[in-house]
Amino acid sequence: MAIERTLTILKPDCVRKNLVGEVTRRIQKAGFDILAMKMTRLTPDTAAGFYAVHKGKPFFDSLVEFMSSGPCVPMILEKENAIEDFRKLIGSTNPEEADEGTIRADFADSVGENIVHGSDSVENGKLEAAYFFSEQEVVANKS
Ligand code: RTP
Ligand code: MG
Repeated sequence: MAIERTLTILKPDCVRKNLVGEVTRRIQKAGFDILAMKMTRLTPDTAAGFYAVHKGKPFFDSLVEFMSSGPCVPMILEKENAIEDFRKLIGSTNPEEADEGTIRADFADSVGENIVHGSDSVENGKLEAAYFFSEQEVVANKS
């Protein structure tokens, strides 16, 4: 299996619930290397740009409002098979449908406030990583 990178965001509910440490611990315990991380706050425009693929869907406005409602923690993660393995670690979008022991099953309140984002493909992971981090901020890219 190939080494891949994925972009995660510990969402504003994760930060508000003081779960940054616990979720990061689970990510690292599952074997992901953190190549970049920061705390930032999205504006409504940057949140809308990040989730542009969902523009026009009924949940879009509430998604943008939630994602810009407070600080969040984006990270670039690296591991073998990272895209699929990370989505397994976080569980289904709706925490009620997420497998037991997944991050969303354990910590998320609702489909709208579900603690973490994970890229859905290697290609999108690259675009999403570039949305948050310059090359210089990615430790593994430095010579
Ligand atoms: P994410 O992109 O945040 O990792 O979530 P995901 O892939 O599991 O789900 P996606 O389909 O990409 O949806 C992005 C976010 O929009 C909200 N959503 N609400 N009410 C709804 O039916 C609904 N569907 C999606 C969720 O917060 C989801 O994480
Ligand atoms: Mg998604």
